[in-house]
Amino acid sequence: MPELRPPAAARRHLLSVQGMSREDVERILETARRMASSLDREMKKLPTLRGRTVVNLFYESSTRTLASFELAAKRLSADTMSIRASGSSVDKGESLKDTASTLAAYDPDIIVVRHPSIGAAQLVSRCTAASVVNAGDGKHQHPTQAVLDLYAMEEAFGRLEGLHVAIVGDVLHSRVARSLVQALELVGARSTLIGPPTLVPRGMEALGCSTSSDIRDAVQADVLYVLRMQRERMAPGEAFIPSLREYTALYGITPERVRPGQVVMHPGPMNRGVEIDARVADSEAALVGNQVRAGLVVRMAVLYDVLTVAPVAAPVAAGVM
Ligand code: CP
Repeated sequence: MPELRPPAAARRHLLSVQGMSREDVERILETARRMASSLDREMKKLPTLRGRTVVNLFYESSTRTLASFELAAKRLSADTMSIRASGSSVDKGESLKDTASTLAAYDPDIIVVRHPSIGAAQLVSRCTAASVVNAGDGKHQHPTQAVLDLYAMEEAFGRLEGLHVAIVGDVLHSRVARSLVQALELVGARSTLIGPPTLVPRGMEALGCSTSSDIRDAVQADVLYVLRMQRERMAPGEAFIPSLREYTALYGITPERVRPGQVVMHPGPMNRGVEIDARVADSEAALVGNQVRAGLVVRMAVLYDVLTVAPVAAPVAAGVM
């Protein structure tokens, strides 16, 4: 078993897909596959992180990410605690840095951070000695979502190389889209971002994808990846689309827009009747449940990975922003 507690200066973090290598992604996917086989057993707990402490620090709402990180830590026998901003001393005005420093006094091995501000996870990585995993920072990055999506795609197609993924919807506010485009490029797959021009920002092609405002371009893809309209990231009065009804008419994924053989993915939470029709969400083509299951094993693999793999360039290896 590799040494699980490298010196503070050599801690690894997972902050962003940018900076991860193909080898990093493939290693985490391979570990996740091994973790998955452990979940078929009656006794699901592994001793891998016994004696380690994982803190989940969430400043934004979450169901899937928080639940799966918490369960992943428990399945690996770590001690775990989850702090939500609401109800904590953040309500009394405590800064992210002071909150992170306070939690660091308990000597956690890993801090998992979700925050509405870009760069929040990186800030925590600088002010604590723990390994930090970014569970979503504003509209910037959600690296574990990207890796779990790759896991679910590989399960469905038996390969990643050469796949074509059409990512449809509110790209502008989507950390999921940014992370996924980069992850797909790393593994030899390609992506097309599709949505109204106001929601598909100029320059996204630099991440390694093509763009379109025509939903008919999604028909060629192997995967239709549907994004939620992120109204919580739009300022009051900002109008990116004339109306949700019009958006749904032009870009909503209905059964008629799904080609036989295509699979449909969504990171959740879904707005049924807005970006995705309920008949699609509940169809055989939808991999949404597979994505949720993949989230558990991929996050088990990530918790293991950040504590075991030697950094390429200390102090930050995978996913430097
Ligand atoms: N996909 C995702 O991040 O879901 P949650 O917001 O429920 O964690």
